Amino acid sequence: MTAPRQHAPFEGATILGIETSCDETAASVVRWTARSPRVLSNVVGSQHELHRRYGGVVPELASRAHLERIVPTVRAALDDAGVCATDLHAIAVGNRPGLIGSLLVGNAAAKAYAWALGVPVIGIDHVAAHLAAGLLDAEEPAWPALGLVVSGGHTHLFRMDGPLEMRLMGRTIDDAIGEAFDKAATVLGLGYPGGPLLDARSSDGDPTAVRFPMPRLTARSVRRGTAPAAQDAPGSHGTQAASGAPDDATPNARTLDLSFSGMKTALLYAVRGVPAAPNRAPPPPPEPLTERRVSDLCAGFQAAAVAQVIDVLGRAHDALAAGGGAPRTLLVGGGVSANRHLRAEVARFADARGMSLRLPAMPYCVDNAAMIAGLAHWRLAAGEHDDLRLAPSARSTVGLS
Ligand code: KG4
Ligand code: ZN
Repeated sequence: MTAPRQHAPFEGATILGIETSCDETAASVVRWTARSPRVLSNVVGSQHELHRRYGGVVPELASRAHLERIVPTVRAALDDAGVCATDLHAIAVGNRPGLIGSLLVGNAAAKAYAWALGVPVIGIDHVAAHLAAGLLDAEEPAWPALGLVVSGGHTHLFRMDGPLEMRLMGRTIDDAIGEAFDKAATVLGLGYPGGPLLDARSSDGDPTAVRFPMPRLTARSVRRGTAPAAQDAPGSHGTQAASGAPDDATPNARTLDLSFSGMKTALLYAVRGVPAAPNRAPPPPPEPLTERRVSDLCAGFQAAAVAQVIDVLGRAHDALAAGGGAPRTLLVGGGVSANRHLRAEVARFADARGMSLRLPAMPYCVDNAAMIAGLAHWRLAAGEHDDLRLAPSARSTVGLS
């Protein structure tokens, strides 16, 4: 664990944030005022219209759209904030992880503004920034914290000792939770993007009508799971980070990793029927996909996904408390932190464990640039910034060193 950075951001520091990692072109101005990062403007241009007909983000279309929209988006953010470009102390940009072509556009723009204005450019990790979303417009919470990122690309759990000090405790070994919601919505014919539609539809359903499996991941099963890149292999950062128990000594110990593939398969079988097996009686046909059934499947799927998250949070809290470092705050961020059921359940969990909860306000759940500029305040205060060699990267390494 690295030592916490001591410096506090300086009053009046004003940072422009730029975010283009996926299909949102976003810019925001955040000023440090009275011990908090205050959002002066938050402009987010979604490209959903562009990608809807393909049922997912088309990377080349996304980067072309960023190119057209980035300058007007930055201008709108400065206008809304009522600041001139010359008032800025730094330009922050999400430089990893994401679609490389999309990241390139935001990074090139940020470096051009920084060079023209003679101010530093600050590269920000998008995953870490999602947790800073819960710190916007409020004073810093008590540390240590549990930090949970639930987005379309990530489901990561961190121990945090400050906005910049994070240690990965667990992560999904297959789909991210938002990706699982999006795919479930596609299977159920709800439309795109699926997460919010599944959320809305769940309120009409009975979450107990269909049961979905809850995975029990162990060090051994995680090692055998989806092969991740060596630099961020989940097996080497799961339970081990929380309990100090080496994976090899306790291969059957549960990790703090998550998996959504079993739930997805169960949903597919519920909708299309269980495939026939050789030398077995043919399985019964699936129940008709009535409106009622769709709502029940949404509610059941959502409840099981959130229950898995709460289970992992509970075991992470136990592990840290047993080591004498009980977290005092629960920070949650990422697109799925907009999910109503997840918000209610994490609130209940934090309350039961005596932790204060930091959930982003709704505009800061999905991708935005306020979270990028917000986190950059702590980097700037710590004397950390990048130069014009800043390069985008498709991968995040946050919490791994
Ligand atoms: O953080 P985000 O905007 O982008 C990534 O960094 O991935 O998250 C987008 C994800 C999508 O999968 C979207 O379906 C999901 O967040 N999402 C939701 C809700 N709002 C957005 N999932 C469930 N319920 C919601 N209300
Ligand atoms: Zn995101």
